[in-house]
Amino acid sequence: AAPVLYESEDATISRGVVEANHTGFTGSGFVNYDNVTGSYVEYTVNAAQAGQHTLTFRYANGTTVNRPLDITVNGSLAVDDLGFAGTGAWTTWRTVTTTVNLAAGSNKIRTTAVTANGGPNADSLSVEGGGGSNTGTP
Ligand code: GCU
Repeated sequence: AAPVLYESEDATISRGVVEANHTGFTGSGFVNYDNVTGSYVEYTVNAAQAGQHTLTFRYANGTTVNRPLDITVNGSLAVDDLGFAGTGAWTTWRTVTTTVNLAAGSNKIRTTAVTANGGPNADSLSVEGGGGSNTGTP
């Protein structure tokens, strides 16, 4: 199914804030994770059918230190320590892609910082794949 974009500023945020002070984001801003282990952004996404889907995270990391995130799907660890390397500047946005299994219907994709630096600045999550026609936020 065609990709559907979920803006981070519309997601559920635990220990993070929506900001718009670094240009280049889509939508109305991005999430600045608090610089602590355990801060997270949780996207509620819809899958028309169960199965493998590609997740594309758009982010910026103006430091030179990787800020890995654990990716859980409906409470289960799907990707351990997905890397978000430095992008050179907080205004330079890049994408990281991974693949997960989604259930049919609504899914909770949580992206949790695993270091004391917190996560990268998170612009959006795009979800693609699976059969049928995906729709927007369920
Ligand atoms: C800077 C930057 C923030 C970023 C933060 C961080 O303060 O302006 O956008 O989130 O560094 O290191 O996490």
